[in-house]
Amino acid sequence: MSTITLSVIKADVGGLVGHSSTHPEIIEEAEDRLGAARTQDLVVDFHVTSCGDDLELIMTHRRGVDDEGIHRMAWGVFEACTEVAKRLRLYGAGQDLLADAFSGNIRGMGPGVAEMQFEEREAEPVLVFMADKTSAGAWNLPLYKMFADPFNTAGLVIAPPLHAGFRFEVHDVKGHKRIFFDTPAEIYDLLVFIGATGRYMVKAVYTRDGEIGAVSSTERLALIAGKYVGKDDPVCVVRCQGKFPAVGEALEPFTMPHIVEGWMRGSHYGPLMPVPVHSATPSRFDGPPRVIGLGFQLAGGRLIGPRDMFDDPGFDEARHLCGIVADHLRHHGPFEPHRLPMDEMEYTTLPQVMNTLQERWEDLPG
Ligand code: F6R
Ligand code: MG
Ligand code: MG
Repeated sequence: MSTITLSVIKADVGGLVGHSSTHPEIIEEAEDRLGAARTQDLVVDFHVTSCGDDLELIMTHRRGVDDEGIHRMAWGVFEACTEVAKRLRLYGAGQDLLADAFSGNIRGMGPGVAEMQFEEREAEPVLVFMADKTSAGAWNLPLYKMFADPFNTAGLVIAPPLHAGFRFEVHDVKGHKRIFFDTPAEIYDLLVFIGATGRYMVKAVYTRDGEIGAVSSTERLALIAGKYVGKDDPVCVVRCQGKFPAVGEALEPFTMPHIVEGWMRGSHYGPLMPVPVHSATPSRFDGPPRVIGLGFQLAGGRLIGPRDMFDDPGFDEARHLCGIVADHLRHHGPFEPHRLPMDEMEYTTLPQVMNTLQERWEDLPG
């Protein structure tokens, strides 16, 4: 057994075309940089991919979470890739790099971060979920289903290692607080909060004896920037099998394309479509929102894989349903509940339009 850290750090550094995808030269630049980091023994292994316009760095190393060296290196990769994006005149070059210079930790600088440190098991299957055109709360429902819903995860009922349930770490990203809930005993309390996906986010899930099973990125770009600068497009890591949900139990929630916020201009609700990497190219109305899932077996920190988990006809019906739900929502045009409610629109481009009309509002007579 050995202690390993799995870090997934992502940023939108520029899109091809518009916000729909990224460019192969961006991926190559990131691979070159991470290859050098591997040669220097900073990382053990890595895999670079993209989901829509987001560049995803999946890395293993031995330096623990929130490591300055890893974060500095990742920031450097995003800066170098931004230069490539600028040279190719890609759209929104450097979009998510909200800070001018690195200052110790990449959190709060724009990129999304999901990291976990654990003792690698004899066989360690992990899934990395990555989404585009949606927000950080998008994992609440699938994580609940994976770790707390016996209708999704049969192991909660019939597998002794899962039967005790799990512990959820929930963050209030607006109040800057956190709370822990034990499931199944406290599922009603848990659901009070995580049903409000814009504010309360499942940051991590642990076994009852404290072993980490899942972690998600909870960075909200709008809260960092104070205005709309693009959606968070979050990532999530899930350990599988044994005392954790089976791979198939961790994938099962995505057969129900739940409605998430994001899509066009970050201002609409739409279904989250599970797709293979080659289909993670949101185009219709800049969407619908996408999720990809890559599976790896770890071997002393080496990332064996990936397997493209949603490249499976088992998800065809979910994709088909997404098309139907997308049509139905789109027919609402600029009306709620397709468009986000007013308080959520605070973090979109709408406030500028409203400001220009401020003067024209008159008091009602009488
Ligand atoms: C949503 C997204 C896109 C853009 C839209 C307008 O997350 O990235 O829907 O918001 O294409 O983009 P700009 O404002 O860059 O013209
Ligand atoms: Mg973009
Ligand atoms: Mg994006």
